[in-house]
Amino acid sequence: MKPLVKKVLLGLGGVVAIVVVGGCAFYAVQASAFEGSMDKVYDVPLPKVERSTDPVVLARGKHVVEALGGCSSADCHGKDLAGGRPLVMGPVGTFTGPNITPGGMLTAYSDAELVRLMRHGLKKDGRSLAFMPVQDFSWLDDGDLAAAVSYLRTVPSVSKANGLVKAGPIGKILDRKDKFIIDVARRIDHQKADLAPKPTPTPEYGKYLSRLCTGCHGEGLSGGPIPGAPKSMPIPLNLTPDATGLAGWKYEDFDKLLTLGVRKNGATLNPFMPVTSFAQMDETEKRALFAYLMAQPPRPFGGR
Ligand code: HEC
Repeated sequence: MKPLVKKVLLGLGGVVAIVVVGGCAFYAVQASAFEGSMDKVYDVPLPKVERSTDPVVLARGKHVVEALGGCSSADCHGKDLAGGRPLVMGPVGTFTGPNITPGGMLTAYSDAELVRLMRHGLKKDGRSLAFMPVQDFSWLDDGDLAAAVSYLRTVPSVSKANGLVKAGPIGKILDRKDKFIIDVARRIDHQKADLAPKPTPTPEYGKYLSRLCTGCHGEGLSGGPIPGAPKSMPIPLNLTPDATGLAGWKYEDFDKLLTLGVRKNGATLNPFMPVTSFAQMDETEKRALFAYLMAQPPRPFGGR
């Protein structure tokens, strides 16, 4: 080998070594910050909860669980709440909603622990849940959370083992960089809850409902690929009134989309968009959401 070539090759080897060592060090720091935060035990007191058997309260609880929480969608806890389809996202992780019927983890939790879980994203032991998007519905008020718990106590018991929940190396980095949320409790203000006002068909209420959409459609609601998601996962679209989004949509178009899963252009929506849940929203909720989305500044597709 000519001396110059040898020198260049040695130089390149050095650069590769620096990149590899640097990459490993970067990963080690991110992963340990992630594990440390997931291991943190939060000191959040248990609330007082009154369980009810009043049919009106139970019906509201079912609505909160199914239409708003989206708990029973296929990719979350499943139609019968006995466990969802695993979301397999390669190096980002695998996330499977567990069995939350009385035959599953429900019996291990007191009513107060369940309400704390839905408001603060904390497990029974005070550590963060992984991946379950509590930050998107922690605005539900005490009455709604008590109704949800009362309802969950009444669903048929199913005995079914829980699937895998595991954050992968890329998932841990994306979480620390705020691109993909796994460490749920870190995203919630545990001192001061930001609760929604009473339901009205206005943007003020729609703003809270729209949080149910941001996990997929992005904080700015303009859509684009979910960071780290495999190519097989459908891409959330633009929900702002831009030409690439909902410009020109009428409430009727939006209603058809949420209730039937049919887009304005006639195409059927990919079932990854949890239409089975949102179809159960009532008219006040759908009008509030639409009013809020249409009041957003138009943003081009993909900025998330
Ligand atoms: C689990 C992820 C997920 C959540 C949560 C979600 N969406 Fe979607 N949404 C999608 C995906 C993916 C698509 C594109 C589906 C396709 O291409 O068929 C989509 C498409 C849409 C469209 C179609 C836009 C068009 O141009 O036709 C609308 C409207 C919409 N979503 C509204 C909402 C609203 C409102 C919410 C919150 C209440 C919401 N979505 C929550 C994943 C989601």
